[in-house]
Parts: sequence; structure tokens; C-alpha cells
Amino acid sequence: MKLKYQNQTVDIVLGMAFGDEGKGKVVDYLAENYDYVVRFNGGNNAGHSLKFGNYKTSVHALPSGVLHPHVSNVIGNGCVVNPNQLAEEIQKIGAGNLQGRVFVSSAAHVITPQHIEEDCKGGSKERIGTTGRGIGPTYAAKMNRTGMRMGDLLKGEGKDLFSKEVLDVVLPLITDTTSLLRNALDSDAKILLEGAQGCGLDIDHGTYPYVTSSNCSVAGALSGTGLSHKNIRRVIGVTKAYSTRVGEGPFLSEIFGEEAERLRAAGNEYGTTTGRPRRVGWLDAKQLREACQMNGVDQLVVTKLDVLSGLPYVEIDHGGPKETKSGALIFKMKNPQYSSWVSIPETTTKYSDLPKEARDFVDNIERAATVPVTHISISPDRSGTLPRP
Ligand code: GDP
Ligand code: IMO
Ligand code: MG
Repeated sequence: MKLKYQNQTVDIVLGMAFGDEGKGKVVDYLAENYDYVVRFNGGNNAGHSLKFGNYKTSVHALPSGVLHPHVSNVIGNGCVVNPNQLAEEIQKIGAGNLQGRVFVSSAAHVITPQHIEEDCKGGSKERIGTTGRGIGPTYAAKMNRTGMRMGDLLKGEGKDLFSKEVLDVVLPLITDTTSLLRNALDSDAKILLEGAQGCGLDIDHGTYPYVTSSNCSVAGALSGTGLSHKNIRRVIGVTKAYSTRVGEGPFLSEIFGEEAERLRAAGNEYGTTTGRPRRVGWLDAKQLREACQMNGVDQLVVTKLDVLSGLPYVEIDHGGPKETKSGALIFKMKNPQYSSWVSIPETTTKYSDLPKEARDFVDNIERAATVPVTHISISPDRSGTLPRP
């Protein structure tokens, strides 16, 4: 007998590295095929950029399905929510556009002004390089069983912390999102879970203590929504064609100097949330493979391939001592005939029209990750995503 509650219509998008892989762009591209897009971890430490034609925006608390009028957007129980910021973000995207299609879990924890102050003044901002959005202290209160949940706001608690205007926007959105999603599954709805941050920033599996304070990997997608592992159909990993990191912590494939400057400028690698210059480096093949294994990734999307096009050469780093770089794990490409290794026009509409060097590079990423690369991205726009045959 087919058990209805085991309907397998849930897919998950996860960042494979230190965040900012282009998850927002990928979710916006995929959202057309889903009824729900759901955030399950983190808060407005995230910054997910969306671009569709002339319209460009970024979301921090809201899921990246907001630009699709048919998509319901859910902030799950695993998230932390700053009501002031959420209200502001809803106004920015357009409250009218979002009417009836934003839901916030009553079990999500509230980021209070005190949490923000603690994050900014308690030393973690300097030590870890946090975003200063109060994320860590809010999760700490959750674990201490002293936190306030969104449902408590409905009961009138914490009212003095937020203005009437903010509460008027946020309170009507609060509901039991686990039941909402479960009922949706029962009626065969298609659900996309949207990770924030990335595997390297996971509180358990990342580069502790230089991590965020939630599970950004596949386990967080279940605990942060109340859905079952039986509901998962596919896990979609997102990786850049190179690497970046904001804040402190180990970054094995990091590059410096002029080479780094060139890559940072080409990729416009400045934080979506804080505007900080991102540290840059080559793609770390070992880390990518491990992230794929841990999350049970079924397919990969490689973003920002276009950014590499103007560089004199590109590299995939296997993460070990330089002299043992060999075979599929390390790959250095240089075209001695040109000043850049390859040129990838933004106007390319078919994977097969990409230069052979670029396709070879993607083949090497696939070999290093041991997971099929199903799409590549060559521009910030929704249209710049090419399926790989
Ligand atoms: P997220 O946090 O994973 O959603 O990623 P962010 O939005 O913070 O950072 C990714 C940045 O790269 C954003 O500025 C995007 O607009 C941009 N971007 C995404 N995909 C591509 C791409 O394929 N090419 C280029 N040039 N930019 C991209
Ligand atoms: P998205 O979803 C990149 C980093 C911070 C800091 C560490 C801890 O856009 O990929 P926190 O404020 O979470 O306590 O900071 O985690 N960080 C991110 N880096 N992208 C993000 O989100 C991030 N969210 C947090 O820079 O090093
Ligand atoms: Mg981001």
C-alpha cells in the first residue's frame, strides 16, 4: 500500500561551501515547478539575490520563491525571525504581491533587539565575523529553553519590543507550518526547501567555531520543517565554479594578491547582507565531494562559470599538498594563445554552444564531485541557467 504521508514531492537546494553559492538564483529558476518554497534554517544573516529581466532584488528572511505569483513561501520552524526586518522586507517586495502566500512558523524563534546587541557587542562579530544580525544569541536562547517563539507574539508576549505597524504585518502570517506542509503533501503539492548558508558553515559539520549557528545541511531541512526523510525526492547541491568565504575561518583553497583581486572584481564578490569583500579562492574539490556525500546530493548546479572567463587561467584545488596535485582532482587550465583561458559570452543560450574549454572544466568538476552536474549558470539572471544535456 502506498502511504500518502510518504509522498515524495520534496526537493532540497543546499549550498555546498561557505554560502553565497547562488542558491537564491537557482531556487528562483526552479520555483516555476513548485507550489511551495520553504526556508528551514538561519535568518536574515542570509542574502539571496534574485534577478529576472530588469527586476533585481535580494531576500534575507523570505524564501526565494517570492517572484513567482503561484508560489507560497514558508519560513519554517528551524528559522529565526527578526519581525522588524521581515516587515520591512515584505514592504520592499510588495505586500500586495505577497498577500496570502507568506507563512511563518509559530515555532520559529524571535530575534529580539537584545540578541542583536549581544551579537554585535559580545565579541563574536570580531572573533567569528558574524553578520551581527543576532542569529547566534537567538539560537543560544532556543537551546537554553529561554527563547521566545513567533507563536508567543500571537499570545501577546514581547509586544513591547515591536511597533504596532510591524506586528500588524507579521502576526497574520504566523501559523503551524508543519501541518500546513503536511496537508500540502497530502494533496500532492510540490515543495522546494531552500537552504541558507552552506555546508562549511554548518554548526556540526562546518569549520567550527567559524560557522553559523544552525544546520545548513540536509538534516536541518528535516528538523527545520517537520517533514520526513521519506518525503525527499532529490537533493540539489549548488556550487560556484570557484570559492568564496565571508568572515573568519579556514579556507584551504584561498588565493591572495593580484590574482585574488581579479577574481573578486570579476565575480563582484562583496556580501549581499553586509557588503564586506568576500575572500576568494579556487574550487576545493575535496570539500565539494565531501559535501555531496554528506548531503546525499543527487545533482549539482555550477554557478558563476562566466566569472572565470576573463582570467588568465583557472584551477580546481584538491585541497592537499601542492606537489601531489594530480589526475582529476587538480585541474589547471591555461590557453597560451590567449590572454584569458576562455571566453563565455553571457548571451549563450545552449550548453553545447559553450567553448570546449568551459565544458571540459565542468566535466572536471563533475569528476571531482562524483555527482552529475545538471545545470550551469552564466549570469545573475533567471534566464542565465543552462541545462547540461
Ligand atoms: P546565495 O546566498 O547562495 O543565494 O548567493 P548570493 O545571492 O548571496 O550571491 C551570489 C551572487 O552571484 C549574487 O550577486 C548573484 O546575483 C550572483 N550570481 C548568481 N549566479 C551567477 C552567475 O551565474 N553569474 C554571475 N556573474 N553572477 C551570478
Ligand atoms: P547565504 O544564505 C555567507 C557567515 C558569516 C560568519 C558566520 C557566522 O547568503 O549563503 P552568523 O551571522 O550566521 O552568526 O555568522 O557565517 N555567514 C554567511 N556567509 N553567506 C551566508 O548566507 C551567511 N550567513 C552567515 O559571515 O562568517
Ligand atoms: Mg548570500
